[in-house]
Amino acid sequence: MTDSIKRDVENAEFFTEQDIRIFSFDTRQSTRLHTLAEELAAIGGPQAPGAKSKASLAATELKCSFSKDQCELLAAYSNGLVCALIFEGLQKITDGSPPNELPNLTSLENRYDVLCLGARNQILLKLVDNISFAYDMDNEGKLVRLVANFKGGGLTKINAEPDIKELSSHSGLALGPHTEAPYWCAVNAKDGHSPSPSSLILSALWNPSLEATRVIPLPPILEKIGVTHCLALTTGNFRFTRSDSFVSGKGGDGRNVSILEFDDKVGFAARFNSYRFSVNDNASNFVRTAYSALCRGVSEATPVEYTLTQESAMVINNVRSLHCRDVIKDNRRVLVRIFGLSKFLPLSLFRRTRYCCRADFLSIQAAEGPIM
Ligand SMILES: [Fe+2]
Repeated sequence: MTDSIKRDVENAEFFTEQDIRIFSFDTRQSTRLHTLAEELAAIGGPQAPGAKSKASLAATELKCSFSKDQCELLAAYSNGLVCALIFEGLQKITDGSPPNELPNLTSLENRYDVLCLGARNQILLKLVDNISFAYDMDNEGKLVRLVANFKGGGLTKINAEPDIKELSSHSGLALGPHTEAPYWCAVNAKDGHSPSPSSLILSALWNPSLEATRVIPLPPILEKIGVTHCLALTTGNFRFTRSDSFVSGKGGDGRNVSILEFDDKVGFAARFNSYRFSVNDNASNFVRTAYSALCRGVSEATPVEYTLTQESAMVINNVRSLHCRDVIKDNRRVLVRIFGLSKFLPLSLFRRTRYCCRADFLSIQAAEGPIM
């Protein structure tokens, strides 16, 4: 264990066991990150033309200021071996307390502090060699997704609380353990389907009641259920329902997918959603038993809880861990999320660089030329 993850002995041991690590910025580094994020926000944030190369340059500059231990920690995540990496010691973006009510989505998206948090997330993703991207079938094709109770279902009703609640990060409902969709494949594109995101990064604009984000590392669960069950989970015997966050008319249900796959670069990669997955009707008893063992293992696991604020961010390895949350208690809670694609995704995916996967297919479209 390197010094950079020994924030304090108790926490470091707890997180290391769970394969979750902490990266601490010192004051000088975090001041510089803050300036670089502000510069990126000033040109329009992550979605602006030129943002990708600016974030990349910012990450390169910051890396020069990191210690050997800090660099090793970033490399461990970049190599796919860490379930989640928490960035601490970040500067507050704004001092103001949240308003009495959650503003609407559009006005939030255009706020300078949101652009700053998005920009900072984009730079942090680059530190672990992930490229920010969005699918155009999801989140209206936008890079930054605001996670908040816009559509009801939280502990406290919103104005115009709908009868039917959307099961997505735009509602206030509790979300069971899941990886992010799409669920067809995890690292390599398959049959024209895009891989799932390699990472998601989250920070908080407001979290007045300090509500936790929960992460469940998969390695201990897979070890517990054993090799035979794991092998059964690599077969294409599972199906899933369509995500509520998909753009109308795009994306859909799926069947004959696996939950686990072996991968030469990262060892294994997983896709799973406790409220969307089920077993194909014609699956064998071996497969059904393995699926039950996985579901039991997930439900019995103790999630690692972390309370995000403006002064922290968490990048979650989406093929190695699940995440979940409780019902939203304070409707002013707003998280800022971006997806990342790791260095292991085939370069052929990146023909152009606004990183928008077209529908559910693998072409990634944009306008700034090939990535380096
Ligand atoms: Fe999620």
